[in-house]
Amino acid sequence: MQTIRSSEELARARAELGSASLALVPTMGALHAGHMALVAEAKARADKVAATIFVNPMQFGANEDLSRYPRREADDAKMLAEAGCDLLWMPSVSDVYPDDFATTVRVSGVSERWEGEARPGHFDGVATVVAKLLLSVRPDVALFGEKDFQQLAIIRYMVADLCLPIEIVGAPTVRESDGLAMSSRNQYLTAQERKIAPTLHAALTRAVKRISAGEKDLVAVEKAELDVIARAGFRPDYFTVRDAKTLLAPAAEARHLVVLVAARLGKARLIDNLQVIR
Ligand code: PAJ
Repeated sequence: MQTIRSSEELARARAELGSASLALVPTMGALHAGHMALVAEAKARADKVAATIFVNPMQFGANEDLSRYPRREADDAKMLAEAGCDLLWMPSVSDVYPDDFATTVRVSGVSERWEGEARPGHFDGVATVVAKLLLSVRPDVALFGEKDFQQLAIIRYMVADLCLPIEIVGAPTVRESDGLAMSSRNQYLTAQERKIAPTLHAALTRAVKRISAGEKDLVAVEKAELDVIARAGFRPDYFTVRDAKTLLAPAAEARHLVVLVAARLGKARLIDNLQVIR
């Protein structure tokens, strides 16, 4: 695996790939099995695989965990090399955001509610950095986890709206055996909180079951599960059933839905979701 720091080096390595097809997996590092599933899927979809590790300051709010976000470059690089990744790009902050950087990519609508409301500016940071990573690496295909469902929806809109010639692939959420979605933020949980954390997945599973069994009163489903989560000790931000493409309230005839949840537990803020076809 070739490890690249500067954008000049990246341009050279990209040119050397010639006509080989390339898949990209953008990450912020602290890699776990969820990230590695994206790498495996990337390998199945292209001749060569590139990954990026960049803890993007632009997507962290003032009171968020930028400074304590886990950084494990050496371990991450080893995992990626063992998984057969060909290129690893780890740009510096000044490389991505030089002093005179002036552009923001904002996807309106789909980015405005839910995580967008809870974390103002977050999705501008995500869209801007993902646009920059995609345009710097110029892969044929880029892979993102369904774990961050709203992020994936926003990236799909951005790529379609800007006619970026890149296929966006969503990969299923990788979970612990008790259902908790893998996340680098799970390490903020105490042992006691870790036992409570799978309640989120259980609530999503129950909601999906009710909806696929024909439940039409989606507000009742949301209320019931918000209650369960709060009683388990979470401080929920939202538990909502949405149209899977637009993230708007589903029309009566909408079939592809997603149940989204975000809730705080101790120092951690966890998000998860499950899709349902009705
Ligand atoms: P990060 O949180 O490091 O996640 C990188 C990718 O891994 C994202 O596409 C995310 O959805 C996916 N992922 C995380 N946990 C997963 C799990 N349990 N199962 C499957 N996929 C999972 O998301 C980001 O970084 C950043 O916002 C980024 C897109 C890199 C832009 O900075």
